[in-house]
Amino acid sequence: MYRIAVLASGRGSNLQAILDAIDGGRLPAKVVGVFSDRPGALALQRARDAGLPAIAMEPRRFATAAGIDRTAFDIALFEAIDATVPNMVVCAGYLRLLDAGVVEAHGGRLVNIHPSLLPAFKGLHTHRQALHAGVSEHGASVHFVTPDLDGGPVLAQARVPVLAGDDAPRLAQRVLAREHPLLVESLRWLAAGRVVLRGDRVYVDGRALATPLQLGANNAFA
Ligand code: GRF
Repeated sequence: MYRIAVLASGRGSNLQAILDAIDGGRLPAKVVGVFSDRPGALALQRARDAGLPAIAMEPRRFATAAGIDRTAFDIALFEAIDATVPNMVVCAGYLRLLDAGVVEAHGGRLVNIHPSLLPAFKGLHTHRQALHAGVSEHGASVHFVTPDLDGGPVLAQARVPVLAGDDAPRLAQRVLAREHPLLVESLRWLAAGRVVLRGDRVYVDGRALATPLQLGANNAFA
């Protein structure tokens, strides 16, 4: 069975979408652990409710005179993650930057969901960025994680319209509703071995992907 470890800092609705898809028989996989930098994260509670290992690791435990030792934190975190022997590590609303060495050591086995149509609107406050830029279309991307923040190869996207009268919360809600099926479908293809990273390119069914897979209205890739 395909083994998924999830990293989440907050609400964990993307984690819940994964758990629900597994429960519903729509994703042949198993979540082997949920990891968070915030002990109070709702994501951890969702994991406990599902009877899954929920592990909090607090950055402040890695405080030095010069500040948090981010590398030491990430090394410890990924030691714990690796102990669950995941096939894929999914960052689903994980709000910390990852150490480049740790990312490189997990190349091709680490994906992130980001609420924008990458390469547009990297970083935080993506919905506000989209409204500010006046775009007519926004969405979410699933990408392989590389040391370049939100810059790794994108494997799939879901698009939503920006509507008149949108504010950031409304737009975020519309995007989030598509993030959930996007993440599940991406994991289905990853678990089936249909999507892989080779070098810095995404391959689908053995062919280099020119543009990201697109989530259709039926929640499957077109
Ligand atoms: C999602 O919009 C995700 O794309 C972003 O943070 C949000 C997390 O939501 N990076 P949740 O914790 O999965 O509910």
